[in-house]
This record gives sequence, C-alpha cells and structure tokens, in this order.
Amino acid sequence: MIKEHNELQEESTGNWWQNAVVYQIYPRSFQDSNGDGIGDIQGIIQRIDYLAKLGITAIWLSPVYQSPNDDNGYDISDYQEIMTEFGTMADMEELIQKAEEVGIKIIMDLVVNHTSDEHRWFVEARKSKNNPYRDYYIWRDPVEGKEPNELRSIFSGSAWQLDEETGQYYLHLFSKRQPDLNWENQAVRKDVYAMMNFWLEKGIGGFRMDVIDLIGKLPDDMLTANGPKLHTYLREMNQASFGKYDVMTVGETWGATPEIAKLYSDPKRQELSMIFQFEHMGLDQQEGKDKWDLQPLSVEKLKEVLSKWQTSLGSQGWNSLFWNNHDLPRIISRWGNDRDYREKSGKMFAILLHMMKGTPYIYQGEELGMTNRPITSIEEVEDIESVNMYNERLAAGHSEEKLIHSINVKGRDNARTPMQWDDSKNAGFTEGTPWLPVNENYHEINAEKALENPDSIFYTYQKLIQLRKEYPLIVWGDYELVNTTKAEVFAYYREYKGERWLIAANFSSQSHTFELKDTVQELIISNSSSVSFASSSIQLKPYDAWVVRV
Ligand code: NOJ
Repeated sequence: MIKEHNELQEESTGNWWQNAVVYQIYPRSFQDSNGDGIGDIQGIIQRIDYLAKLGITAIWLSPVYQSPNDDNGYDISDYQEIMTEFGTMADMEELIQKAEEVGIKIIMDLVVNHTSDEHRWFVEARKSKNNPYRDYYIWRDPVEGKEPNELRSIFSGSAWQLDEETGQYYLHLFSKRQPDLNWENQAVRKDVYAMMNFWLEKGIGGFRMDVIDLIGKLPDDMLTANGPKLHTYLREMNQASFGKYDVMTVGETWGATPEIAKLYSDPKRQELSMIFQFEHMGLDQQEGKDKWDLQPLSVEKLKEVLSKWQTSLGSQGWNSLFWNNHDLPRIISRWGNDRDYREKSGKMFAILLHMMKGTPYIYQGEELGMTNRPITSIEEVEDIESVNMYNERLAAGHSEEKLIHSINVKGRDNARTPMQWDDSKNAGFTEGTPWLPVNENYHEINAEKALENPDSIFYTYQKLIQLRKEYPLIVWGDYELVNTTKAEVFAYYREYKGERWLIAANFSSQSHTFELKDTVQELIISNSSSVSFASSSIQLKPYDAWVVRV
C-alpha cells in the first residue's frame, strides 16, 4: 500500500501505527503445530482468532528467518528463507494473508547489525583477505599479538574474535557467531535494502529494527551506539526501501534520550516511525553497571522517567509503550507481586501503561499474567547471554548462588518459556518435548482459563485495547503527572478537546490514600470491585488502578 501522508499527530486520525496495539510473538515459544517441541508459523496461524479476540492490530514477529539458533534467530544465515523448524515461505505468506483478513499487520524483525557466521556473506568473507565479501564485515589486524582493542561483547568477553585462517580479528558485538556487518560498505547497504524490499513486496506492515543504534559504530574509537553516520544510513534506508510504503518502523535503541529519539522519529527527517527505548527498564540496575547488578526500583524515579518521555517528544516523535519483551523478565515478577497479587498487579501494569500516549506493545503471555520461571542450576539455562555471563563471572570468583539469583531476576529465559494455552500436557504448547520447559504454574495460568473468567487479566487488556479504538483522548491527549503524597501512587491526567481523564495506580502491596481534587463523572475502567469515589480521600488497596472521567 502506498503511503499518503507522514505527519505525526494529525488530529484524531494520524498514521495507522499511532492507533495500533502491537503484540509481540516469540515464535519459538508461541505454538507448536507439528510436535517437534518448537513453536512454528502454522502454530501462529492457529491462534490468529485468539489474537483477533484480544483486539490487537499488529504483530511484531521475532525473527523467523533461516538461522543456526546461536541466539534463537537473532543470528540470521539467510534473510530470504524461513527457518526450517518454523515452516516455509508459503506458511509465512499464509500468515501475512490470514492476519490481514482480521485487520492484523505483520511487523518483521530486521536484524542487520550482524548476521550469523553461517550466512553466505560471512562464509565467503572468511575464506581469504581478498574475497569480494571480506569487506562486508569488520576485520582488524592483531595489535601486539592480541585483540585490536578493549571493546567488549554485550554477551561477555572481547568483541573481537581471531580468525585463525587469515590471522585477523573480526568484530562481534554479540556472540562470536554473530559477526557485525560493515555498514561503511555501500554494497552491504544495497543488499540489505534489496532484502527489505523483498519483504515489503510481500505486504508486511513494517520492521522492528534490532539494535539499530549500533550500525554507525566506530570500533577503532571504541564507539558503538549513535555513531556519526547512523542517521545518514537510516535516511538512505528509508529512501531506498520502506519510505514508499505505508508501514511502521520501530528502532530498538538502548541508550536513547528524548533528544536522540527526535533524530530518529521527527517526520521531517524521514527516518523511522518511532523508537523502542529502555530508560525505564534500567531503573533497577546500579548506575554505570550492567543489567545483572541489581538495585531496588524507585517508583518516584519511574514516574519521572515515564513522564519525561510522555511530555518531551511533542510532534517530533512517538513513544513505544512496554513493560515486557523477549529480553526482559516478566513484569509481574519484576516490579509487581507474582505471589499474592498476580492478577491485581498484572491489571495495574496494563491500565497504567495503556492509558499513556504512544503505541502499546504486549508481549505474548503478558495478557495472561505469565510470570518468571526460576531455575536452580546453569544446566537449565538456554539463553546465551545468561550462560556467557555466568561462565565469565564464575571464573572471576563470583558465587554460584548469586549468579543463579541474578539469572532468576533478569535472565531472558524468563520471558521465553512456552505460551500457556490450557491445562493439558505442556500447557497445550506442544505434543512433543518443549525446547524450554513450560512454567509449572500453567495449571493455574493459561489462556483457556483466562477466557472463561470475565474478570481475568485477558479481559482487562481486551477492554483497554477497545477503549483506545474508541477514544481519541487515549491516542492524542496531553499528559500531566499528578503530584501525590505517597511515592507508590502513580497518577496522571490525559486531556483532549476539553475532556479530562484521571488515571491512578497503587504500585505497592500496601494500601494508600489518594487525595482527589476533581469531581468524578464516570468510571472508565478499574481492577477493583470496591473502589469508591464518595469522599475526596480515596482508599487505594494494594495494586488498585482505575481510570475516571473528571
Ligand atoms: C536485541 C534482541 O532483542 C536480542 O534478543 C538479541 O540477542 C540482540 N539484539 C542481538 O541481535
């Protein structure tokens, strides 16, 4: 479909992706249709009705391309073939088509900072220094017999790997089986854009761009994110591929500030639709340290960060709203309470986020209130990031117990356990042996049960999505944080064309009072059966959340 306009915030209509609600599918763990223990595309097709019932309008599909699965598909060996375990290109085309029939667009994951070491380009590149593909990757001579510099991989250890055959090091910001592409090379860029056009021609709804902030790196200067040519490349990409289509593009950018966000998403600059930034997600890690170095969450800080993003983009950007994805622990286990208030806190997170301005993303199972799955030994861990971190820190003298604890709190497998569909064996995910064990709590937490219970988290999500479709205020309204006496009470207003809504949420397992300054006209949604607005001192029980028109 050819694009007609590109303005942000066009009154009450806007771009389709400003009105969208995205659901992320991690295909490996969503639904297996052939009993091999691995989710697949036919499995997704079987569940389209479920997604349509939830009401979402786009799917961000984690990578389904051919891959040796060193990093579960984020290491691509062929961008134009489907991973054998997931199905065929015909299955993929069927998925695009069947989803479209119910108003759902498919957003493909675009992983072009790196490829797999099994990609044809890399297989060629490593053959010799003068292979035509050599310059598709980043090679450096050893310095004094060692790595060219101190650059570290995000998956632990050096970012440089020696290629014995040719005596040079290649760069890998992730695993050594994920060599970084050399974006300086025009031929690389041309091939990537051609591949993007191949997918756009199939009628997809856009791209989620994996670690896109890294493509302009200057490894010799130890600079990885936000390199000098990053935005030149994105503008070039826009012109050479998706700019001609009415699609959404969302860039994964870990360290972005609102100022940086505008560089990507100011419509005048013709780069991306929006970015996926993580500032709020870093609040439970110690400053200057990495994700494994934990600290308690400050709700005050969370309010500050989310409010800053709500108010600072103006017409030069658009927010992605999320609590979860395939790299993050489950939010109920992380900042909620997965023992005594699982349902209540799950709904609280949903209400708080879905009333904000931006495009909401729901990660598979979030709508069921799925939780982390604790492990007791490293043998149970599949995720390469956790395994590498464990090995490196164990060798450096950290205690095993502490490392297992960090993995239980922050490890990526927490989000990747199979989707819990029903109470049958393996939660209805597979008839075989699941590639990663199902969380044992599936007898209680599963889609079938949620659908039978009108009070389930699922229906809170369904209602929130429905409200977003009905009320332009949710999409376009201004945001204003409310100062509350209790740090744990998070409240804000949304205002649009003279209408004002108040959203309040108790982010804790204690009761708190909220001083109401407005007259309540109508209760829009709440996760509590007993909330009363009779007096101006409102009792918020643990994890209570509600939205009212004032
Ligand atoms: C970010 C992805 O979300 C993550 O899962 C992956 O491991 C890295 N990028 C490398 O592609």
